[in-house]
Amino acid sequence: MGGMDDYQRKTSQQQHSPIRSKLKILLLVLSTNILSVYLFSGSSASFSLSKLSAPAGIHLWDSEALIRQLNSTESKLSLAHSQLSDLQNRLQSSNSLLETLLQELGGRDQSAAAGGADPDGWREELSGEAKLAVGPHKLPFGFTTNLDTDELYPSLGAACGRYRDELNRYMSYEVGGECPPDDVFAQRLMLKGCEPLPRRRCHPRSPKNYSGPVPYPASLWTIPPDTSISWHPYTCKNYTCLVNRGKAPGHYDCKDCFDLAGRERVRWLSDGDFLDYGIDAVLAMRPPGTVRIGLDIGGGSGTFAARMRERDVTVVTSTMNFDGPFNSFISSRGLLAMHVSVASRLPFFDGTLDIVHSMHVLSNWVPDAVLEFALFDIYRVLRPGGIFWLDHFFCFGTQLNATYVPMFDRIGFRKIRWNAGRKLDKGADKNEWYISALLEKPIT
Ligand SMILES: *[C@@H]1O[C@H](CO)[C@@H](O)[C@H](O)[C@H]1NC(C)=O
Ligand SMILES: *[C@@H]1O[C@H](CO)[C@@H](O)[C@H](O)[C@H]1NC(C)=O
Ligand SMILES: *[C@@H]1O[C@H](CO)[C@@H](O)[C@H](O)[C@H]1NC(C)=O
Ligand SMILES: *[C@@H]1O[C@H](CO)[C@@H](O)[C@H](O)[C@H]1NC(C)=O
Repeated sequence: MGGMDDYQRKTSQQQHSPIRSKLKILLLVLSTNILSVYLFSGSSASFSLSKLSAPAGIHLWDSEALIRQLNSTESKLSLAHSQLSDLQNRLQSSNSLLETLLQELGGRDQSAAAGGADPDGWREELSGEAKLAVGPHKLPFGFTTNLDTDELYPSLGAACGRYRDELNRYMSYEVGGECPPDDVFAQRLMLKGCEPLPRRRCHPRSPKNYSGPVPYPASLWTIPPDTSISWHPYTCKNYTCLVNRGKAPGHYDCKDCFDLAGRERVRWLSDGDFLDYGIDAVLAMRPPGTVRIGLDIGGGSGTFAARMRERDVTVVTSTMNFDGPFNSFISSRGLLAMHVSVASRLPFFDGTLDIVHSMHVLSNWVPDAVLEFALFDIYRVLRPGGIFWLDHFFCFGTQLNATYVPMFDRIGFRKIRWNAGRKLDKGADKNEWYISALLEKPIT
């Protein structure tokens, strides 16, 4: 995108400018020094020339002339001496000036690296609604101890500043009017790290001829009416299309997840004792009723939460709308959907969940460092004795023992169940593996 190029150019200029000014100052100092050396050495050079040429015109018997000559030589010498010491003094002072300048520049570089050099610069370039949404805003009652500041910065993903043009575009709408049909654009911006997105003052498009939800519990296994949502962001324009997508050619995320009469209906119902664990077997590992609340990370169309709800466990499902109304579908089923990516800090307090489940989402596409932080975050939100059900974690055979087993060991979970098995759908030669595991946060 042109905006991105523009942005990179600007940043590289900003990065170069301190070096440029440093060079300028260096050149200035050096040229001052050279100039003074030139001036002084110039005068002494003319002096030595006269000294050398003078004796040629002197006769040995003319002692008075000789003494005069000597006298003048002596005085010239002493003049030269004082000039030299003056030169030395000047050099010393310009050296210390140079030192001070370099120290100052070093200090400025350090503070720039620490973000001290105008960390809010990008905010200044925002205009209108974007500027208003991003803040900061002075608190009406001044400093408050809860915030430890007198101004409020509304939450905003760290990378939003990197995508200023997109941010400005996202924030371009009529205040109080209808939001632009930019769901796909907005989700991409989010996934690039501008998560959370800023809040907006516009109304999302409401579906034409809206139909209310199917009553619970029938809603859990009913395909919602097409008129419950707006279809503009998706390739499919109705649920029939989405349900049939599983059988149609083409690659889609969670391709058969909308087909509630298909594979979804049997997921997690039986305990395969290998990679496929059953929900009842997992719940049976804890005293009845003590697994009550949880999270399913990247839970597709919400079937894990539906099965849990049938067992009186409340599970929040985080999911992305990758060319399908996953969030809307989950909520139509009467379940809680959360539009949060795997890169985001989980919005739960420490030690609050009984169970966290994740299938197919956390795997080797996630950068190692991001994955490790995510796993520590899962550990954080689980209560002591809470269960992390890692379901079909995907990786290559070479990564299994080299990267992932040591990583899981580092987090500090206790292994209750652990299975690693070949993934054979793309052929045995691919050396693809799955890990399924039940990991417990230790009770210390
Ligand atoms: C040489 O210089 C001294 C002072 O430095 C002066 O007293 C003396 O008269 C001078 N002699 C001649 C010959 O100029
Ligand atoms: C709106 O919904 C009602 C009832 O569900 C239906 O009778 C009507 O034809 C619909 N109108 C349009 C424009 O789809
Ligand atoms: C659903 O959408 C498809 C195209 O995506 C269309 O061919 C089909 O007729 C639609 N079905 C219904 C019931 O609206
Ligand atoms: C990983 O290590 C275990 C135990 O050392 C070993 O049994 C297994 O074959 C290894 N797996 C792979 C895929 O290398």
